[in-house]
Amino acid sequence: MDITFLLNGESVELRDVSPTATLLDWLRDERGLTGTKEGCNEGDCGACTVMVTDARSARALNACILFLPQLDGCAVRTVEGIGGPDGHLHPVQQAMIDHHGSQCGFCTPGFVVSMAMAHLNGDQNHDDALAGNLCRCTGYAPIIRAAQAASDQPVPTWMTDTPPASLGSKIPSGGLGGRQPPSLSAPETLDDLATAYAARPDATLIAGATDVGLWVTKSLRDLDDVIFLNRCTDLQQIDETDESLRIGAGVTMDRVLGAVQDLHPSYAEMIRRYGSAQVRAAATIGGNIANGSPIGDNPPALIAMAATLHLRAGDHSRDMPLEDFFIDYGKQDRAKGEFVEAVTIPRHAPGLKVYKLSKRFDQDISAVCGAFNITVSDGTITDVRIAFGGMAGIPKRARTVEAALIGLPWSETTIRAAMTKMAEDYAPLSDMRASADYRLHAAENMLLRYWHEDQGIASNVLEVTA
Ligand SMILES: Cc1cc2nc3c(=O)[nH]c(=O)nc-3n(C[C@H](O)[C@H](O)[C@H](O)COP(=O)(O)OP(=O)(O)OC[C@H]3O[C@@H](n4cnc5c(N)ncnc54)[C@H](O)[C@@H]3O)c2cc1C
Ligand code: FES
Ligand code: FES
Repeated sequence: MDITFLLNGESVELRDVSPTATLLDWLRDERGLTGTKEGCNEGDCGACTVMVTDARSARALNACILFLPQLDGCAVRTVEGIGGPDGHLHPVQQAMIDHHGSQCGFCTPGFVVSMAMAHLNGDQNHDDALAGNLCRCTGYAPIIRAAQAASDQPVPTWMTDTPPASLGSKIPSGGLGGRQPPSLSAPETLDDLATAYAARPDATLIAGATDVGLWVTKSLRDLDDVIFLNRCTDLQQIDETDESLRIGAGVTMDRVLGAVQDLHPSYAEMIRRYGSAQVRAAATIGGNIANGSPIGDNPPALIAMAATLHLRAGDHSRDMPLEDFFIDYGKQDRAKGEFVEAVTIPRHAPGLKVYKLSKRFDQDISAVCGAFNITVSDGTITDVRIAFGGMAGIPKRARTVEAALIGLPWSETTIRAAMTKMAEDYAPLSDMRASADYRLHAAENMLLRYWHEDQGIASNVLEVTA
């Protein structure tokens, strides 16, 4: 297959690239651009951070889990393209020198690219922007000081990439399915996607590749037949009504965060800790639902909001409550050739709280993720939906706990009685993230935390004061 993109301002055309060749390998092995480092090769460390611009936005992404076909029609800037053509340093590079932001230097290119990205977008929240970049020796304070120092400097002229849309795309929307493997397509409309997937139901759908990328880099899997979703703009819409938001499966988590920030602040706060800036800019809400992971962070929140899932196969569409999609570990209610089209959530869920518990505050998979949506009228619990991730083989509602709350007075006695029912809903596993006992107690205490927050008792570790 053939692709074209801008690399540090210069047009690149590649012929016959493998669908699952990563940008990181290509940069280092084929172009000799070794400033982009390989640390973890699984999206965790940010050493491979590059800037990618398409018609919608400019964002930092991890090159190690970014497949070359995803770049077709985009502009890519690596650390080698951050300084000016005449040798001028970018303000973030100068600030890293001035503030002693580098020791061994291995992480530095990744930091510099993330900092330049935040600088370009005017993002002043340096902790969030850099949470996906790990440094083992300098310490973060000098790096954050450097980011702060550079933030009031103007964006250098060379950082504005040519609108990449003018490059067009080389990947056929209808695909190369009829030719020799590996075959691939990158449909641009919902109908084309439905047709392609119906014809090749064993193809692997690739959205943001934050899961699929690891199948290739860590499990060394060959993917013979793939359908890329990133060009399907129909999947990337957020449609708002007075009552609801219909979020396309291809909407990335950074856009979901923006869409729910004011409507569902607790859900938004959970998303802020979902992966890192690089992961949120790639990962889609549809991928997080479709992968059926028991520790995916969206499903508990969406189930607690009574979200509706929209599926499509060929010409046929169907809707279902999201909670019914998850049947058993690794098994979802999705037929061959059927894909996730969108998910609809209510605009109003004032009783919603989402608690993500992980060993590391930023960029870590949850040990337990609890979502609580409780309505109290005149002192009585009139509606309740509670769902957890990390407590069973699927994201699952706490039906017994819910039954122990509904219709009862909103009081600590009711809460503490309901907490004892958690063990009837869940028999969690022990693994490297948490023991079964810890998970169960954490889930019970999340319900108590909900009560405490409602009563104005500080419980967020970031807010606790002496
Ligand atoms: C460093 C790192 C940190 C992470 N942190 C978190 C975290 O904090 N919380 C969390 O929940 N997850 C986390 N993840 C996991 C991952 O980011 C999410 O599951 C992500 O939302 C997957 O979306 P994607 O678009 O990248 O999916 P992909 O990797 O492209 O696809 C995932 C699966 O879904 C299928 N698929 C994709 N789109 C569709 C569709 N529309 N219809 C049907 N099938 C589809 C694919 O075929 C594949 O089986 C992390 C991953 C990494 C690498
Ligand atoms: S090498 Fe660690 S995120 Fe890519
Ligand atoms: S400077 Fe050594 S890892 Fe960051």
